[in-house]
Amino acid sequence: MSIQAPRGFNDILPGEQYGWRDSYRWQRLEEIFREVARLYGYQELRPPMVEYVDLFVHGVGATTDIVTKEMFNITPRGDDPDARRMAMRPEFTAGLVRAYLENGMPNNPQPTKIFAYGPAFRYENVQKGRFRGFHQLDVEVFGAQDPAVDAEVIKLGLDVVARLGLTGLVVSVNSIGCPNCRPRYREALQNHFRPHLGELCEDCNTRFERNPLRLIDCKRDAGHPAQQSAPVTLDYLCDDCRTHWEGLLSHLEAMGIPYQIDTRIVRGLDYYTKTVFEVLHPKLGAQSALWGGGRYDGLIEVVGGKPTPGVGFGMGMERVLMVLEEEGLTAPFADRPRLDVFVVTLGEAARPVGLKLLYELRDAGISADIDYLGRSLKAQMKYAGKQNSRYVVILGEDEVQRGEASVKNMDEGTQESVPLDQIISHVRRAEV
Ligand code: HAM
Repeated sequence: MSIQAPRGFNDILPGEQYGWRDSYRWQRLEEIFREVARLYGYQELRPPMVEYVDLFVHGVGATTDIVTKEMFNITPRGDDPDARRMAMRPEFTAGLVRAYLENGMPNNPQPTKIFAYGPAFRYENVQKGRFRGFHQLDVEVFGAQDPAVDAEVIKLGLDVVARLGLTGLVVSVNSIGCPNCRPRYREALQNHFRPHLGELCEDCNTRFERNPLRLIDCKRDAGHPAQQSAPVTLDYLCDDCRTHWEGLLSHLEAMGIPYQIDTRIVRGLDYYTKTVFEVLHPKLGAQSALWGGGRYDGLIEVVGGKPTPGVGFGMGMERVLMVLEEEGLTAPFADRPRLDVFVVTLGEAARPVGLKLLYELRDAGISADIDYLGRSLKAQMKYAGKQNSRYVVILGEDEVQRGEASVKNMDEGTQESVPLDQIISHVRRAEV
């Protein structure tokens, strides 16, 4: 029997040879994200990986691709009294809003600044940088309207990738207005596209009534003259949205963040209002958004809270790590942890002494390992070398009787006899 991972799901593995799938790179990226989030005053919330489908239908949007085509649904057992359908989360924002409300967090001093990370699931067509199981680094700020927060969120993401050494990013921003100004814009879009419906794809025809904004970023109709000449949201913003938009741009300028305005960005989730943004990298080709986000001032109310503004982003971990690999950027992953000591034992009498030393080393915070396969001396030495250990402590029967061991410094190739009770201090001394 040969079973493979489900299509579109990846194993994250220990070892440099796995490139972007090297688990050490993932750990470092998560560490960097947590560190930057902490610097910005964000705290971690861990929502479940499964939510009721209704949350995504109402939160992300009933007509979005995510909900109509890409949901990983779970069918509960037939005798489950709570037989509402559940789904694996396709993104974090809706679940974080639910958790914020369900746990009384609006009663805390606002704003609430949250970070979260982990797997998300979308039943997509698998291609480069697009998976069915993927991972996001996510931040959200609930309860602040100030465009300085939109700028903060953009800057936070840029700080994460700056620590990885990634350059050449393009920050694209747009404003898609609010329920005040959107109807006028929708109408303008419908008037513009109506004469061309026959030439546009099936999806665009369905979206025309329910979600005409998506007509301007449809990939299938990209290049159609009607798409090129479509009216742009920025010309339809109400005073409030315009002030917010100008505020955002002036904050980005004050922070020295280069950006481009891309009126084609509308995003694939329905909850956005005002600010939307995407950060692109040319190396990713068609799937070029490393991350995306924006403001969603109506979402918290939709999920059952009082009207509360919100803004955040989701960053694709696979995409960030794939670009780093393509760019050959290994510096942030260079100092991989090494094994401090490998304990080699020879003969029956040395074995219990070796095992005791092994646990003493670990208790002292020195990483250590031993052979469990009954290897010969030569094979143990070879294995210790493969483990990239700094020291090999060799316990032969004679040495054990003298209360000593040979300690080999693998980097320098030197070897000396050390009394057993001084091995820990010997290894430590060499550390500093
Ligand atoms: P999104 O644009 O759907 O937004 O996803 C954010 C990022 O997740 C994308 O830019 C991409 O890097 C990654 N991503 C999405 N789908 C896939 C996939 N199938 N394979 C690999 N990577 C993928 C959201 O999810 C929003 N919740 C972001 C947000 C947070 N907006 C406000 N707060």
